[in-house]
Amino acid sequence: MKIDILTLFPQMFDGVLNSSILKKAQDKGAVEYGVTDFRNYAANKHYKVDDYPYGGGAGMVLAAQPLFDAVEALTEEAETTNPRIILMCPQGERLTQRKLEELAEEDHLIFVCGHYEGYDERIREYLVTDEISIGDYVLTGGELASMVVIDGVTRLLPEVLGNQESALKDSHSSGMLEHPHYTRPADFRGMQVPDILLSGHHEKIERWRYLQSLKRTYERRPDLIDFESLSEEEQQYLKD
Ligand code: ADE
Repeated sequence: MKIDILTLFPQMFDGVLNSSILKKAQDKGAVEYGVTDFRNYAANKHYKVDDYPYGGGAGMVLAAQPLFDAVEALTEEAETTNPRIILMCPQGERLTQRKLEELAEEDHLIFVCGHYEGYDERIREYLVTDEISIGDYVLTGGELASMVVIDGVTRLLPEVLGNQESALKDSHSSGMLEHPHYTRPADFRGMQVPDILLSGHHEKIERWRYLQSLKRTYERRPDLIDFESLSEEEQQYLKD
């Protein structure tokens, strides 16, 4: 997969794209990241990318021309057809695991990150294919938000996580939150690991994990559970 990022602050990406799993994913050839300063595409001698709003008002508006030209150049360079062009903004569709799974199927993503009062509306209307928000709060720009999406997509690409099972068992990929985990020692300052996990009885452990996952989801994120679809035993377990 090719992932391009359009930003005025390319240095913000250095550490994140070159650490941990994202670095490994590039080394394995599962993904190629490109970070582009779209100021380089401004067709004026001062490399200006913003301008005053028509109709007046405070703040500057990011102009259409540099972003249209940058997206066209990156699309041509990657020789991909129909890349997803993703604008990071608080007005976008709220990010979910399902959205990450959908994006992980693509072969080219282009993220547009801005730091401005607004984007010229023609960018939204005619250039981008998706607008994504990472939550109901406002950041100074789209860069950190795009890194969240890039991280979440990259770890879903084939071959990226050594243990494919760990992506399948994550919180949210099953629609529920993850069960608790423990490692040695079995007794840490008097705090005990549940006996069942030491029993070696795999079926019972799986069932325990499933019920823990259900309980945690019910307590923390009841909106994720369709109570009616649970067995009577499970419904009773949650009520106890
Ligand atoms: N840019 C600023 N705030 C944002 C948010 N919450 N999500 C995505 N992009 C943003």
